[in-house]
Amino acid sequence: MEDSSGAPENDAKLQEDQVVTEEEWLQKWQKNNIGFHNKQGHPLLRKYLDLLLSGRSGLKIFFPLCGKTIEMKWLADMGHHVVGVEISENALKEFFTEQNLPFSEETIPEIPGAKLFKSTSGNISLYCCSIYDLTSAVTGKFDGIWDRGALVAVNPCERERYAHLIASLMNKKCCLLVTCSYDASKHKGPPFYISDCEVQRLFGNYCDIKCLEKIDGFLERHKKWGIDYLWEVIYMLMLK
Ligand SMILES: C[S@@+](CC[C@H](N)C(=O)[O-])C[C@H]1O[C@@H](n2cnc3c(N)ncnc32)[C@H](O)[C@@H]1O
Repeated sequence: MEDSSGAPENDAKLQEDQVVTEEEWLQKWQKNNIGFHNKQGHPLLRKYLDLLLSGRSGLKIFFPLCGKTIEMKWLADMGHHVVGVEISENALKEFFTEQNLPFSEETIPEIPGAKLFKSTSGNISLYCCSIYDLTSAVTGKFDGIWDRGALVAVNPCERERYAHLIASLMNKKCCLLVTCSYDASKHKGPPFYISDCEVQRLFGNYCDIKCLEKIDGFLERHKKWGIDYLWEVIYMLMLK
């Protein structure tokens, strides 16, 4: 059986035991091994922004596993309040420095060892901790979520926990989720291959799910992985 992007459904099983540790992610940032970072921003967020916002202003928008995603500034400049979470302090400091945003640093009483980096303007709040340390009691709920490079980076064995957490942080409105699909027999991830069925399995109990589009996301750098196609698939999730 194939999913909508043409990848064999069984391919998902090939990666189910893969684990990337927090230390390995930190090292990627230390060594600037961050091919996932998109310097131009992501075309699908621009294209589907109206769906995410649905005419509302002053939203609270969540970027899980945010890295130094440039759209955090873009959305803050539109008047929204952006909240991100990322384990790498380097990533968050690079974000503020590269975007020329002065910031402050504080501790979070509810999460020992975590830090909160806040733009001086107050409309960007980035938590430096594991996403699994967050709860709606700490962050409140979000009016919109942009998940690109997040679910696909979560270890397969932690996906259910991640989906449950994301659903618990959502307000009624929507989450845009970008997954990727490629021949998982050729690359072990991350990003991990996520099938349509997997999105349904993870979020189907919480959300109505609509696949919006799949685009060709194959880039020169992917050739090193031994694959010859990569689709990016965008879904809209609406809390039931
Ligand atoms: C594939 S990158 C994507 C970053 C960003 N979303 C983007 O699109 O550029 C995944 C990010 O998740 C971070 N990360 C991994 N595990 C995490 C966790 N448990 N909690 C918070 N951040 C995590 C990594 O440091 C890395 O920056």
